[in-house]
Amino acid sequence: MTRPVSLRWAGDQAGALDLLDQTLLPSRIEWIHCTDVDQVVEAIKSLRVRGAPAIGIAGGYGLVLAAAEAARDGLTPEAARAHLLARAETLACARPTAVNLRWAVERCLAVLSGLAADLPASMLGATLLAEARTIHQEDGRLCAAIGRHGAAVLPAGDILTHCNTGALATGGDGTALAVITTAWDQGRRFRVFADETRPLFQGARLTAWELVQRGIPVTVLVDAAAGHLLKTGRIAACIVGADRITASGDTANKIGTYSLAVLAAAHGVPFFVAAPSSTFDLSIDSGDEIPIEQRSAAEVLWPLGVAAAPDGAEAYNPAFDVTPARLIRGIITEHGMIEPVTRERIAELLGRGRVG
Ligand code: MRU
Repeated sequence: MTRPVSLRWAGDQAGALDLLDQTLLPSRIEWIHCTDVDQVVEAIKSLRVRGAPAIGIAGGYGLVLAAAEAARDGLTPEAARAHLLARAETLACARPTAVNLRWAVERCLAVLSGLAADLPASMLGATLLAEARTIHQEDGRLCAAIGRHGAAVLPAGDILTHCNTGALATGGDGTALAVITTAWDQGRRFRVFADETRPLFQGARLTAWELVQRGIPVTVLVDAAAGHLLKTGRIAACIVGADRITASGDTANKIGTYSLAVLAAAHGVPFFVAAPSSTFDLSIDSGDEIPIEQRSAAEVLWPLGVAAAPDGAEAYNPAFDVTPARLIRGIITEHGMIEPVTRERIAELLGRGRVG
């Protein structure tokens, strides 16, 4: 069973962040070696590293690089902390929708507040590295728990998923994809239908790649074929990941998720979301408050580098949409499934299960 790894830290606090360049998959496997914050920010913005938990982990390691920058520049302890704060903000803003990014960066920064103000940048870096590693390892455990809880509730039959929510998108086996792979490893047999996920094809390029490596049967469909497929009655459940879930359960995920949820409801197919508690943003209630990243026109007009529309055409390219809680059968977290998806159940489960 091969599980791809999307990011790894090389060395000590003076080391570097290695990222598998996901923009090149499945054709080429190339790693990029990030030694400063700007490289990490560029990699997050251009989706070389992507998926809500994975960009959070990258953000944490990015702060270690910020400390290394301060050490290289010989900054005083005070100036080093100011540098870290500024770089933290740059990292947290690299992509606006997935709350895991800001969550991880702020969690790393928070460990510095308990340290003496006169510590040099190198020592701040060592503390930041320990916290980033903890977040990375924890994510692996959260994915495993999500996989177990989700496999227990996943109905028998073929599964439809959207975007990529696997090992590439996390520090472990994934979220929605971990549910699928865990069920498969338990001996359940089914076929996975993967929406290609326009415009950047995370479903076709990445989810299908992960499933083929694991020997799990996968069929890629154009996003627009989902309604027709659901109408055939072949799909037992839809399961997707999330980039931000509000206190009421409204869920931002890859563009096309909302359409899929509406179609699933129209055909009586259960629609599940799988996400760790770090994807919840309990500071907001309505999905309307979630910032939706707008991306470049080129992604739509030049998919995979080929002109798909005439010069002069404009593009509408929101990277995410929001699925209202009422369309979600259950949200599978590391603590178990939230069902029904209500404010009360969310507060109850996260309140009970949250560690620290
Ligand atoms: O733009 P992307 O590829 O980062 O979008 C990723 C998604 O929408 C995933 O479904 C989500 O981040 C969950 S990943 C476990």
